Amino acid sequence: MILVTGGAGYIGSHCCVELIEAGHDVLVLDNFSNSSQDNVHRVERLTSKSIAVETVDLRDKEQTRRVLAEGRFDAVIHFAGLKAVGESGADPLRYYDNNVAGTVNLLEAMKETGTRNLVFSSSATVYGEPERLPLTEDARTDATNPYGRTKLHIEQILRDLVASASSWSVILLRYFNPVGAHETGELGEEPNGTPNNLVPYVMGVAGGHRPHVRVFGDDYPTRDGTGVRDYIHVMDLAKGHRAALQRLPSVKGVEVYNLGTGTGYSVLEVLDAARAATGEPIPHVVQSRRPGDVAECYADPSLAARQLGWRAERSLQAMMEDAWRWELRRSQRRADEH
Ligand code: NAD
Ligand code: UFG
Repeated sequence: MILVTGGAGYIGSHCCVELIEAGHDVLVLDNFSNSSQDNVHRVERLTSKSIAVETVDLRDKEQTRRVLAEGRFDAVIHFAGLKAVGESGADPLRYYDNNVAGTVNLLEAMKETGTRNLVFSSSATVYGEPERLPLTEDARTDATNPYGRTKLHIEQILRDLVASASSWSVILLRYFNPVGAHETGELGEEPNGTPNNLVPYVMGVAGGHRPHVRVFGDDYPTRDGTGVRDYIHVMDLAKGHRAALQRLPSVKGVEVYNLGTGTGYSVLEVLDAARAATGEPIPHVVQSRRPGDVAECYADPSLAARQLGWRAERSLQAMMEDAWRWELRRSQRRADEH
């Protein structure tokens, strides 16, 4: 049995589909602060399996300990956390409390109950402004916002923990830019309010819910002046977790892996791919740079290929097509509700 914290969220829910299809049993722990039970039901429909759910906040020490004590978990995949960069600047204490204190509670409960295998959702944001590209796992880390610093603190806490006791096996997965949806269009990302991230925003424009995409800067030192990122299909990311789980029992201490494709695309290239996938015009307006954004960020994913036997396979086009299928289903659902 795998305990999946944050399993009702965007990446966690897609990962549950992949794990269940690989034959794992999962228990989802989530406080539903940024998700709903609907996502769990979608996973159940896609896999034809019912999923055990614990509605628990990781900051609640007693409840977290109870869940760990009641189950027999081969491993924990820890997705639960807050992830909005801008919000983390406005309310840093909430981010440190939720992400760092919540993780410490989880680790204490794991320690007390004898579960020693963990996969943690880290982020390419821990690299900050890259010194060299592509980014390898040994690159300098230097997060530029409180959200990123919660990830760096947690990475350090995990290194300290494994240094204190050799029985722990920990894999840190640094995700680049997860996008897209399950290929059926039945499961995808459901951002609250106006999306901050490029692809959900673009899909909102393609769907006619917003007038144009705001391109944050076209004066970066990149091939067309717009920001370059390593977009990775969320189902490829899910497969990376499956591969990490397989390796976990043989891990002594901490291993770190970049999960990206190794290819960067500019904002304008994403817009072109989205136009091709949706058949919609998707107008855009260039605005000034968004504070805190780096010009370019993409992974060297070769370590994951060598050690985990994992490689991202889906193209940018597939990411856009699957995101669009999900957007159409969402629009249909909203129309049916009215
Ligand atoms: P998400 O918000 O969709 O999912 C996170 C889930 O965790 C939600 O269901 C939320 O309700 C739950 N949660 C939050 N705080 C909790 C708490 N204290 N107790 C219990 N449940 C809690 O986000 P996501 O995009 O699926 O991201 C999953 C993880 O991956 C996060 O840790 C995030 O920081 C990391 N990550 C995401 C991205 C990205 O672009 N989406 C990139 C890099 C890393
Ligand atoms: N962008 C726009 N317009 C928008 C939104 C974004 O032009 O409306 C641009 C950004 O300037 C950037 C690119 O599109 O160049 C991607 O921006 P996103 O907001 O989609 O993604 P980020 O790279 O800024 O950050 C994301 C997550 C972080 C995570 C990081 C990992 O939001 O939480 O990827 O690399 F840490």
